[in-house]
Amino acid sequence: MTTTDDAVPFRPVARVGDIPAGEGRTYEVGGRLVAVFHDGTGYHAMDDLCPHMGASLGSGPFADGMVTCPWHAWRFRACDGAWCDNEKLKVEVFETRVADDAIEVRVPPAATR
Ligand code: FES
Repeated sequence: MTTTDDAVPFRPVARVGDIPAGEGRTYEVGGRLVAVFHDGTGYHAMDDLCPHMGASLGSGPFADGMVTCPWHAWRFRACDGAWCDNEKLKVEVFETRVADDAIEVRVPPAATR
């Protein structure tokens, strides 16, 4: 689920053009690692940590709205973070926007345990 909490600010992570189409990058945002992907027309953001064994999703290839984990090829949808093989398992996704020339993401603090 994408957060829409207006109390959480958008924060710039990169400039338009920094992420080639079909690729992602990982950024630290508010103490969390966030994977940001460029689909050729827009940007998507999700938690960088693969729930399988912890690979960085930001280094995986991105195509057809899905990122493929670079370690064991689990695929996750950018729209809602769902694992393509079982939608009950999801990674957190975040809102993105482009403001002027900056790619911005809205990332709430990690939930405490
Ligand atoms: S660590 Fe991502 S699929 Fe195994």
